[in-house]
Formats: sequence, structure tokens, C-alpha cells
Amino acid sequence: MSYNPHEIRKDFPILQRKTHDNVPLVYLDSTATSQKPLAVIEAMNEYYRRSNANIHRGVHTLAEEATAMYEEAREKIAGFINAPSSKQIIYTRNATESINLVAYTWARANLKTGDLVVLTEMEHHSNLVPWLMLQAERGIELEFISVTEDGLLDLDSYKTLLSRTLRHAQGGAPKLVAFTHMSNVLGTINPAAEIIRMAHEAGAITVVDAAQSVPHLKMDVQALNADFLAFSAHKMCGPTGVGALYGKAELLESMPPFLGGGDMIKEVKLRSFRPNTLPHKFEAGTPAIAEAVGFGAAVDYLTKVGMDNIAAHEHEITEYALERLEEIPGVKLFGPSADKKGGVAAFTFEGVHPHDVAQILDRDGIAIRAGHHCAQPLHEKFGIPATSRASFYLYNTKEEVDLLVNGLYKVRELFG
Ligand code: ALA
Repeated sequence: MSYNPHEIRKDFPILQRKTHDNVPLVYLDSTATSQKPLAVIEAMNEYYRRSNANIHRGVHTLAEEATAMYEEAREKIAGFINAPSSKQIIYTRNATESINLVAYTWARANLKTGDLVVLTEMEHHSNLVPWLMLQAERGIELEFISVTEDGLLDLDSYKTLLSRTLRHAQGGAPKLVAFTHMSNVLGTINPAAEIIRMAHEAGAITVVDAAQSVPHLKMDVQALNADFLAFSAHKMCGPTGVGALYGKAELLESMPPFLGGGDMIKEVKLRSFRPNTLPHKFEAGTPAIAEAVGFGAAVDYLTKVGMDNIAAHEHEITEYALERLEEIPGVKLFGPSADKKGGVAAFTFEGVHPHDVAQILDRDGIAIRAGHHCAQPLHEKFGIPATSRASFYLYNTKEEVDLLVNGLYKVRELFG
């Protein structure tokens, strides 16, 4: 059977609701957060109704059930990204915390003044600010792979940067390359395997911000040869409050712990402690258990629909959306063509502030995001303070794209 987003929509209770004057919701903001299918909502409900208890601590039935559910979800997440072992999946709060975990542990143990970290100009603040904080604290150096006019990474600038910095660092190779797999503004899908290969050749390890790619593309961390990879459940049909960090086992083993507290220890004395084994070493305190269960259910749901089907559907919608948006006078799209990007369409509308665009569309039930989307330097690079952004996921339809386009014509009429 061919992919039918109208059938998929039935799995998402929220997509049946109306807003304002009884207009149907047109949800085009999945890049900010995705909606949740009933299977995820019910998995979390069921956990609270039947099995709620603290994990790894009790021997009673509920504690054992809760622990099993939490760990089964970890297995599912590992399988979803083809991690060699679930021990390499660390639960965090979100992709942001996953990146911060690397910055606080691996980077603080391994980077010193003058060491080079390479980022890109299209990073979300989550993959920029932790490194700026480390720069202020340690005096590391930061360099940026530049972004071309059409929203692609300039790999020549990366090559030049790697060789220039090799000389510059007087024998010290760049230590870390941290980059987004898919831009949350431009939609650009970066050539992650190539970027990682080049980093490794230069002696650097890599952090992949996969917050936007894991929800939309089939992920294989082993094929990518990623050292660290960060993602969030809430962008992939799961709940907020839980995310994951994947890491190569030898790196995770060698890193000091992140937060200190219960569960991350093997033994504690008054004046010392021994950290726990992987993955618990990085998970201090009672975690988001119901959310982890929901994360596992989201993985099951996406697997059932099929990541290849989802990617193909999003590609079709994006191609159609870009084509339709381009025809509207005054709309300027950012980012590459549909074959090089995921389901994100960021644009400016001549003479209208992006917030006004979003507010007017909202009256017709159309939800898009407006602002700098936590990527201020990228907007600065393009000489604009903000954009309007429509984004697409497995449940969006071409009819919704048409409603967006009609809405934008209305905006144009209103603003003359
Ligand atoms: N990172 C999310 C976005 O781009 C919040 O909207």
C-alpha cells in the first residue's frame, strides 16, 4: 500500500482538534516539536497506571517492571540508530543536554588552552554556546565551516580550515569537530559521513547534533562512524524531557562522569566514590522514566511506519511546498533545493515581519514558527534578524501546504 498521511493522522489525537473559530489545526512546526501518536501517550499512561516505581533500586514487582521498561526502551533506541550496544545510549533530558554532557566531560578532560574545536556557521545555539562557555573557561579556539549563499556547508573552507589549523596549532591537530546533521533553519542535510571522515583524518573526534536528522532519516551511527551523536525524543513523536547521547564505547569509558548523585556510582565512601559502569555512570538521580518508556514507544511507532517511507513522504511534501512558496510574490526562501534538505522551509516575506506572518496564519489554525530559531549567527550571516519557518513531518499533507500558501496570499492582501 502506498503511504497515506491521512491514515497516519488518525494516530495523532491532537491533529483532530480545532483552534480559534473552529478551524482545523494545520500543524507545520514539527521542527520545534513533533506531535505524539496515541501509542506514545498510552504507553506513558499505562506505565503510570500499572508500573510506576523507581528504577534500579527496588526488588519489588513494580520496581522490577519499571526498570525493565526503562531498559527495554534503551534497547529499542540503540537498535533504531544501529548502536552496537544499548550501553552506549545515555539518557539525557534532550539533545542540548547531550551536547553539554560531552562539553563538560570529554572536552574538559581532553581540551586545553589553544586547542581547536571546529563548528559550522549553521549551528543551533545548543551546539555553539557550550563551546563558547568552554572557550571562556579554557581558552580553546573556535573556527567555523562557512555556509554558502544557497545554504550548504562549504567543504573547501573545511579542508582549508583543517590544513590551516594543522599548521597553526604547531603539530597539534584539531581536537573536535561538532556539527549539525540537519539544519533546523535551512533544512540542509550535511554530508555527515564525509565530515566525520575528514575530521578523523585530521585526528579530531566528532559530535553530531542529530536532533533534526534522527526523527526524519534512517540513522546508522556505525556507518557514519560518529563518535558522539545527540538527539531528543520530542522531535521524533516522543515526549519532552528525555533525549539521548550515543557515544563510542571507548570514549564513554574514558570520560569522567557528568552529574554526581544516586545511580551513577558503584561505591561511595565519605571521602571518595567509584563511578558506575556504562550507561549508568552518566545518569545521576531519578530519571524521566515514563518519558523513556514513551521514547521507546515512539521508536516502535516510527519503525512500524518505516523511516524510508517517512523520508520519502517528507521529500515529496518539501518539494511541493518549495515550489508553491516560490510562486508567492515577496517570499524569499532560505536553504538549498529539496534534494539537499529535509522538511523545513524558512522564508522572509517582503514588508512583513515574520512574527506578523505567524500571527496572521494562526488565525486560520496554521501553526508555524517565527524568529531566529535558536540560530542567531546563521540569520546574521544572511543579514536578517528572523525568518518564518514551516516544517513538515510524517503526518503533513499537500492540502496543508495549500492552506499555508492561501494563508500567505491573505497576509499579502492585508499588508498591501
Ligand atoms: N530547536 C527547535 C527549533 O528549531 C526548538 O525550533
